[in-house]
Amino acid sequence: MQTDSHVEQTHLSANTSANRIVIFGASGDLTRRKLIPALYHLFNHGMLPDNFSIIGVGRTELSNDSFRQHLQQSLPAEPRDQATVSSFCHHVFYLTANPSEAAQLAPLAAGHAQQDSKYPGGNTLYYLATPPALYAPIAQSLFSLGLNRQENNWSRLVVEKPFGHNLASARQLDRELHACFNEKQIYRIDHYLGKETVQNLLVLRFANTIFEPLWNCSMVDFIEITAAESLGVEKRGAFYERTGAVRDMLQNHLLQVLAMVAMEQPATISADVLRDQAVQIMRLFRPLTDEDVRNHLILGQYLASNVRGENLVAYREESGVSAESRTETYVALKMYIDSARWQGVPIYLRTGKRLPTRATEVVLHFKKTLHPSFTGVAPANKLIIRIQPDEGILVSFGLKRPGSGFQVQDVAMDFHYSDLSGAVMPDAYERLLLDALNGDSTLFARSDEVETCWSFIQPILDYLQDPAHTLYGYAAGTWGPQEADQLLATDGHAWRFPCKNLTSTQYCEL
Ligand code: BG6
Repeated sequence: MQTDSHVEQTHLSANTSANRIVIFGASGDLTRRKLIPALYHLFNHGMLPDNFSIIGVGRTELSNDSFRQHLQQSLPAEPRDQATVSSFCHHVFYLTANPSEAAQLAPLAAGHAQQDSKYPGGNTLYYLATPPALYAPIAQSLFSLGLNRQENNWSRLVVEKPFGHNLASARQLDRELHACFNEKQIYRIDHYLGKETVQNLLVLRFANTIFEPLWNCSMVDFIEITAAESLGVEKRGAFYERTGAVRDMLQNHLLQVLAMVAMEQPATISADVLRDQAVQIMRLFRPLTDEDVRNHLILGQYLASNVRGENLVAYREESGVSAESRTETYVALKMYIDSARWQGVPIYLRTGKRLPTRATEVVLHFKKTLHPSFTGVAPANKLIIRIQPDEGILVSFGLKRPGSGFQVQDVAMDFHYSDLSGAVMPDAYERLLLDALNGDSTLFARSDEVETCWSFIQPILDYLQDPAHTLYGYAAGTWGPQEADQLLATDGHAWRFPCKNLTSTQYCEL
């Protein structure tokens, strides 16, 4: 998305120059679930260059063949014919190494040199899909082997979240990475920015004229952003214990989405301009006081439950989780932005695991009419941006119920991406991998954004340190602690339930 004309493009653009994608943490979950399927998809759409190679690096002892076999299980169902799979696997290699020991990565350097003698000017994307503690040591290993250098080629480092554990550690990590790679070489992934529907916030707001006049505190009563997950922590208990919902989802995904919703108009849709606007609005997030943290923050943890005959274990019973854990699997926060546009508009964010359904959405709740004939009768208008699933946009408004009198009925204009003929929704990782290969950092977080978000949530992190912080239990399969409903109710507001006809105590699909 580097040029304005790119805005008009609806398809991923093919990359022609990258030769190598080196994935650290190759035998891990992220590689299997996200990276390899995304690369396979790009390969099948002819988006990867002919001479590309994917080199997995990991401590687990594997041969090229056993790594290929391991990955085959994670390839998408379509297309799975043997010829396509073999042709993809032909580009895949594995290096058993402890990547924090530079010497063990020497074969990587030798392999690059050998490949460069065949295809001069080879470029390399290093993807850090490892535990965060390894980010700096890997960058140092690459640096000491000279693999950070860019002469007639490029060398880039993609860093997964979490980027630090708090502001101090994020800054420390930045210093360590910057000692080895310059900022332009570093791509910090926030995969929510790779979601088509999140990017569409820019188009919705700035390529249309009808929404902008409504997009401010004169018209908007409150904003709600929900990222609900029906799954629990799965096999990531040990990771999640150290992370929790605040660090895992709020500090990054939710605040990034909020920045897209709330930012001022960027002069162009280009990497630095867009990120300047994002960081500018983030700096206007009203700092949280101790009182805000006590009164406007709700933390929860899921409890065992039986949902439609299925027994769901409590978070504390998940593998890798302490039986006395006080890690939050749910967070709801009320906050404000001190910009002229959003003055006085409450913003409610919530995210949680083991909620009744998987749904991420942004809702602009508009002010109610003051017309005396309709006050208290007409429902407030809403603009609902469904980020996932069933991606789309819904506008709800009041309609005269046919017949005598002027009764008002709430109806909707509902757009679903699935109605677009011929449009394919690329997976966020496909989009971001391709952007990183193309050198487009627009949809990657810049260090000042990451730091501003850490700084904003620091009072929450301090509160979490206090062993006496309030943590509510909620039954798996419900909409989180009832106190989160109360958070809005005291302002005369209510969360929207993304599933039709569901109240907070009912279940839907898990
Ligand atoms: C990841 C979090 O960043 O996002 C996970 O670490 C979470 O805990 C995931 O499940 C949610 O992503 P998505 O794309 O499924 O909404």
